Amino acid sequence: MGISRDSAEPKNAAQFTREWDRAYTAFARPYDLGVRLLPFWKTWILRALPHIVGPRVLEVSFGTGHLISQYAGMFETHGIDYNLKMVTVARKNLLRTGMKAELVNGNVEDLPYPDASFDSLVNTMAFSGYPNGVRALNEMKRVLRNNGRLILIDFTFPPDQNWMGSNVATLWERSGDILRDMGPLFRDCDLSYTDESIGAWGSVRLYVATKAT
Ligand SMILES: C[S@@+](CC[C@H](N)C(=O)[O-])C[C@H]1O[C@@H](n2cnc3c(N)ncnc32)[C@H](O)[C@@H]1O
Repeated sequence: MGISRDSAEPKNAAQFTREWDRAYTAFARPYDLGVRLLPFWKTWILRALPHIVGPRVLEVSFGTGHLISQYAGMFETHGIDYNLKMVTVARKNLLRTGMKAELVNGNVEDLPYPDASFDSLVNTMAFSGYPNGVRALNEMKRVLRNNGRLILIDFTFPPDQNWMGSNVATLWERSGDILRDMGPLFRDCDLSYTDESIGAWGSVRLYVATKAT
């Protein structure tokens, strides 16, 4: 396995988050449509489903709620997202399915849940939008119970540095996201993990990280 490279984290984290938040407020509805219509996006995020274990599940940064609407009825499900418009759209989408989840507005860096309160955490296509990876990962780990799992799907530079995947990752990075080599981050946070390429020539990856006892 080769190494993946890291994008630089922003100097002004608050401004980074503010700017993305403005964009999500403007694009929440088109985003919702995009997730429904783009078959590859749906296919990627649905790869999280077989890894989720209950009884208590938290999805961090659920967006317009496409994924959470697929499993909310099976677990005691909670969700948190920073963007108010996303939360509103997701609540409506969930209502349509007849399933229940406790969806709130908040920041991955300051999760309003006690330590060790979830069996699974789900996080798709969002980690590269957080300005401080270590802070976000440590906070997600805090609310995970021992032996609980974090199921994370996101873009990264492909470890084998293949041309197609590297170009997809570069495009994603140019859109403003922070692509990270997740291995060192998981290791620094003392999480064991598996890493699987699930699309876009190795630039979209599924990680299942476990919090050891
Ligand atoms: C690209 S969308 C991904 C949505 C969904 N998980 C998916 O796979 O389609 C990124 C989401 O992360 C949320 N987000 C960004 N910064 C956040 C933060 N600091 N804390 C919690 N959520 C955040 C955004 O509001 C947005 O809904």
